[in-house]
Formats: sequence, C-alpha cells, structure tokens
Amino acid sequence: MTRTLLVALLALGAASPTLATEADIAAGEEIYQGVCRNCHGPKAQGVASYPRLSDKDVDYLTERLERYREGEKIGPNSMLMIPHARELSDADILNIVSYITTEFE
Ligand code: HEC
Repeated sequence: MTRTLLVALLALGAASPTLATEADIAAGEEIYQGVCRNCHGPKAQGVASYPRLSDKDVDYLTERLERYREGEKIGPNSMLMIPHARELSDADILNIVSYITTEFE
C-alpha cells in the first residue's frame, strides 16, 4: 500500500510540468556561464566541434550529462567533456538543463 503510493507520487513528480520551476535556474546559469560556455558558447549555440545544446530537450541533455558523469565515451571528443560532467551533482544537472532549455532557443 505504502509502496504503491510512493510509486504513484514518483510517477507524478516525474511528469509534473512544474519541475522546471523547482530547479534553481540562477544556479544553473552560474555554472553554465562559468564553465560550459567556454566550449559550448554563451548561448549554448555550439562552437566549431563543440556541440550545440540549445536545440536539445531536457531528457536528452540530462541523459547525456549522466552518461558523461559515469565516464562513458559517446562521441569522438568525450574526453573533453567527461571531466566537467564528473563535477556535477544531480541538482547541478537539473539546474543547468533547466537553464539551457528555458533561456535559449
Ligand atoms: C573543454 C570543453 C567543454 C566544456 C568546458 C564543456 N563541454 Fe560539454 N561537450 C564538449 C565536447 C567536445 C562534447 C562532445 C563530446 C563527445 O564527442 O562525446 C560535449 C558534449 C556535451 C553534451 C552532449 C551534447 C550532444 O549533442 O550529445 C552536453 C549535454 C554537454 N556537453 C553539456 C555540458 C555542460 C552542461 C557543461 C558545463 C558543466 C559542459 N558541457 C562543459 C566539450 C565541453
């Protein structure tokens, strides 16, 4: 019974449209503009071989960051990305992804 309720609440939370407002977008901006922009550009538009992020969705960006954090090689230049992802907590990832997906087009 309790377990069913918990699962239901988790499912509700995952689907909740208020997720982005619960994230700390300002904190995400601080990390993005402090670190990530050096490669991905001030508007996450991508620079040369550094991929554009602003056209990707929340699920995609979150999944990629979690995989890089694990140390997984995805593309040919993953070794540039993995050390930065390793620094991130779950909250950092939520905040950064919320920032990227709300601030840029
Ligand atoms: C030293 C340059 C560099 C920095 C700094 C950097 N990245 Fe990256 N990032 C890359 C490269 C290069 C790739 C592509 C890696 C590959 O080939 O797998 C990448 C890939 C990504 C991807 C996957 C993009 C896709 O299209 O699949 C995401 C998401 C990402 N970075 C987010 C971030 C975030 C968030 C930060 C800041 C915490 C950050 N990056 C900092 C170089 C960088």
